[in-house]
Amino acid sequence: MTEGITLTLRLAEACDADDLLAWRNDPVTRTNSRNTAEISRESHDAWLLRALADANRRIWIAERGVERLGTVSAVRNAGGPVELSITVAPAMRGRGVGAVMLHAALAETARIWPGDAITAMIRPSNGPSLRLFERCGFVATDRKDDLLIYRWRN
Ligand SMILES: CC(C)(COP(=O)(O)OP(=O)(O)OC[C@H]1O[C@@H](n2cnc3c(N)ncnc32)[C@H](O)[C@@H]1OP(=O)(O)O)[C@@H](O)C(=O)NCCC(=O)NCCS
Repeated sequence: MTEGITLTLRLAEACDADDLLAWRNDPVTRTNSRNTAEISRESHDAWLLRALADANRRIWIAERGVERLGTVSAVRNAGGPVELSITVAPAMRGRGVGAVMLHAALAETARIWPGDAITAMIRPSNGPSLRLFERCGFVATDRKDDLLIYRWRN
């Protein structure tokens, strides 16, 4: 059920480092990530500074009032598609928040980089993510290593 969920996406800032690291190191997020290792504070802070300065990357924080619901990021690969990645805050999962976040991020991505293909890389074992992306108009088009490549059919 996504009816009735209203949220806003804003660009992440350096002060979001604590939330982003906590969501990234959450065990379920790690299991479903390409790199399943726990990320240290030091390397995460350095990565975030680089990421925030990267013109080909956007990191958004989803909020409802003062409540932080999760994050979506978009990376525009050189000569390739824009790849989206999403993490709902652990306490907010299973309520349809992800679909609202993904719809908002798709609209923003299409506005910033019109015409670019939009993809996501998903583990076949990640049922909620497969379902989420399918519901938002993605279809599986390929496989790379142990990940499925999903592409948005807008
Ligand atoms: C994946 C994730 C973003 C989904 O967001 P969410 O808001 O929790 O999504 P929901 O659980 O409300 O809904 C996802 C859909 O999957 C379905 N679902 C839930 N568990 C499922 C399972 N085990 N197998 C298949 N589908 C499942 C839900 O019913 C829902 O479908 P519906 O909308 O048709 O009812 C969130 O769980 C998350 O942040 N996970 C950790 C990080 C991650 O895996 N990110 C994605 C990397 S590609």
